[in-house]
Amino acid sequence: MYFSRRNFLRSATVLAALSLSEMQAMAASAQIKTDGKNIDENDDAWWHNVRMMFPLSKDLTYLNNGTFGPSPYPVIEAVKAGMMENDMNGQYGNWEDTVIKLAKFVNATKEEIALTHNVTDGINIGCWGIPLQKGDEVIITTHEHSGNAMPWMNRQKLHGIVVRTYTPAPTAAETLTRINDVISKKTKAIATPHIPCTQGQILPIKEICTLARDKKMFSIIDGAHGPGMIPLDLHDMGCDTYASCSHKWMLGPKGTGFLYIRKEFQDVLQTYTVGAGSDNGKWDLMTTPATTSDYTPNAHRYYAGTQSNGLYAGVIAAIDFIESIGAQNIYNRLKYLGKYTQDSLLAFGDKVELITPTEERSRCAVNGFRVKGVDFQKFFNMCSEKKIRIRGVNENGLNSLRVSTHIYNSKEEVDMLMEVVKKAIG
Ligand SMILES: Cc1ncc(COP(=O)(O)O)c(C=O)c1O
Repeated sequence: MYFSRRNFLRSATVLAALSLSEMQAMAASAQIKTDGKNIDENDDAWWHNVRMMFPLSKDLTYLNNGTFGPSPYPVIEAVKAGMMENDMNGQYGNWEDTVIKLAKFVNATKEEIALTHNVTDGINIGCWGIPLQKGDEVIITTHEHSGNAMPWMNRQKLHGIVVRTYTPAPTAAETLTRINDVISKKTKAIATPHIPCTQGQILPIKEICTLARDKKMFSIIDGAHGPGMIPLDLHDMGCDTYASCSHKWMLGPKGTGFLYIRKEFQDVLQTYTVGAGSDNGKWDLMTTPATTSDYTPNAHRYYAGTQSNGLYAGVIAAIDFIESIGAQNIYNRLKYLGKYTQDSLLAFGDKVELITPTEERSRCAVNGFRVKGVDFQKFFNMCSEKKIRIRGVNENGLNSLRVSTHIYNSKEEVDMLMEVVKKAIG
């Protein structure tokens, strides 16, 4: 890169600004160690110290964690250190530490966790690996992200399976009824999201997995928004697979995902992406025909090849960061801010349509809404002018807006969004 005096001065300024923020973050990190104590979800001063741990620009009101979660300093530092170790010392491998950490975080065993690069990766492994015949039916929602719609529709196109849908309801009980209504003799799998991206309602996932098991169907869950938002126990949930990532609610490095595959289910779920690490290495090309090896007797059979030491060191740091605050404390704060958002939207009466359920068990940190008479794209643009980042939801013609808040957000930031609503209503 051309290194002019102007560029030099600019980089020096950036470095100076960064080190000041980093110093503030170091001071804040001492304040936010909870040592297992409960933190008041309404203690804004305490949560402000959490915000200091993020380099996220103070000029931006970032209310879009549902797309990706900005990382705090310790995660970014761990990525850098992991890359340095890699590149200075020729260190290679050791991803097992990340697998062990992830497994404990979601209550699984290390044999049940495959490393992936995003949620879509994990969904594809589940979708293509289950045995399905032409005419077999799979149930998804009408609220899918393309990451959980396209794989199933592609299998419909290529293998003749039939994709059927249900629309999530305002209550968990009604959602279960709607799923039951689309189950037929041909249904082989429920491939629902835990929390749909459109309006962020929490679906009754344990009941859904139990229903699938009772009816001898597979449960292939899109868990994009679970870990980091809600304390998870995948063994208790009882799903067959759960595809997720570290780059949303876990605030980890972008491009790091993982897939849980129930131990006993690994005999059913065929792997197709194989190579170094996915087998026992006992193959031989000198025989005729070539001698094939056996798959590894764990979830490593679903991924192969080189992974990033830096990124996966960042995943460990992300879990450490969450645990230093406490997963339950984080969940409580997210629920609190989510309720604050809901109440603020509901205060506009019939001028605003809140589309996320208010039912206690069905809500947390993500809310969908429409401003009556205002095109969602226009409202999105009004937010952008104020440097407020939310998400427009155009999937399946929903034409709505989504606001998602994490621990670095405050009530003041939600209030700033409400100012735009006020202006839009006129
Ligand atoms: C519900 C849901 N599923 C799948 C995805 C795809 O995630 P990724 O980009 O990590 O593959 C997203 C991303 O926003 C999502 O919200």
